Amino acid sequence: MAILVTGGAGYIGSQICVDLLALNKDVVIVDDLSNSTLEVVENIELISGKKVHFFQVDLKNKIELDLVFRTFRFSEVIHLAGVKSVNDSIQNPLEYYSQNILGTIILLDCMKKNNVKKIIFSSSATVYGVPEKIPIAESAKTEPINPYGLTKLAIEQLLNALANANKDLSIVILRYFNPIGAHESGLIGEKPLSKPNNLMPFITQVAMKEREYLNVFGDDYDTKDGTGVRDYIHIADLSSGHIMALNYLDDFKGCETFNLGSGTGFSVLEIINAFQRVNGIHLNYRVVEKRKGDVAVCIADIAKAALLLNWRPNKTIEDMCKDSWKIQQMQSVALAKEEGIIIEKRKYELWIPQ
Ligand code: UD1
Repeated sequence: MAILVTGGAGYIGSQICVDLLALNKDVVIVDDLSNSTLEVVENIELISGKKVHFFQVDLKNKIELDLVFRTFRFSEVIHLAGVKSVNDSIQNPLEYYSQNILGTIILLDCMKKNNVKKIIFSSSATVYGVPEKIPIAESAKTEPINPYGLTKLAIEQLLNALANANKDLSIVILRYFNPIGAHESGLIGEKPLSKPNNLMPFITQVAMKEREYLNVFGDDYDTKDGTGVRDYIHIADLSSGHIMALNYLDDFKGCETFNLGSGTGFSVLEIINAFQRVNGIHLNYRVVEKRKGDVAVCIADIAKAALLLNWRPNKTIEDMCKDSWKIQQMQSVALAKEEGIIIEKRKYELWIPQ
């Protein structure tokens, strides 16, 4: 039996695929490559020394997705494929509802037809909207304030309804906080094809001198230093949360929701300082207006995942800053080589598979 990973060529999916392959799982990736490239799939295979089955399929393409389901027998589905920019979702809600919700409905329909009963769904802390209490527990109210979050919540509600209607289903919903960092190899990580949305890709671009300044969105929040506080989680810890969730699905029926974060908050200035300290790099930044829709503090209560999934994050903020920088450098070296540009030698060690 194989595991289907939708969005397996993406930032989070690629890490999960590497971890699944390390456990000798048969991995099938479905990804439309709208925010990734085939090189990521090659790198998943390079890191793990194993093959994956890859299909460039948009989940909305029922005929092609059906074909994948008829070619393999799936024990579980890890569903990450979707669009994820808050800003884009405000500009183009139709695309977000169509891609995220319709794509998921078609996937669930294929699962039903082919008798696949276990799914892990990638949700987001965005579903909480403006939190009433910190840290945020899974039982907190869910009131997303943008179309992206609304699509995630709609899918969560659908999954809960399905589990209610069919007692044979095993569903885990994982609400991610702020994933950063990259695989230790520096071969896979966050490589947004368009303008980044999140803090860390902006930081690494400033460090590469691709941007002059980092814009710090506001310094008068009611936080330790006035800048926004978030719960950053290393991508390796996030991925291990999925592996623990897979184990949990072994003898669980119903639908359960878990936060995946580090349980600790860092401000924007703390991240900037950690990045500078760990990597020995100076970052130019300037404080600008607050970003619309930002909350002051967002930190996960991770007690439920610790108790039921037996999962705990291990990586430090230093690991996160180091690995985020490494992938950016590796990417730039690869690009420079491709374009025949000789660039100054930067300090990163080559990663050698164990
Ligand atoms: C954002 C999304 C959220 C999504 C999450 C993970 C918004 C409003 N929210 O959350 O829905 O689930 O990413 O992908 O887009 N910051 C700066 N300068 C920058 C970028 C960010 O100061 O150039 C600050 C932000 O104000 C915030 C912190 O850095 O305090 C983290 O920002 P970001 O990485 O965008 O994540 P979130 O805002 O938590």
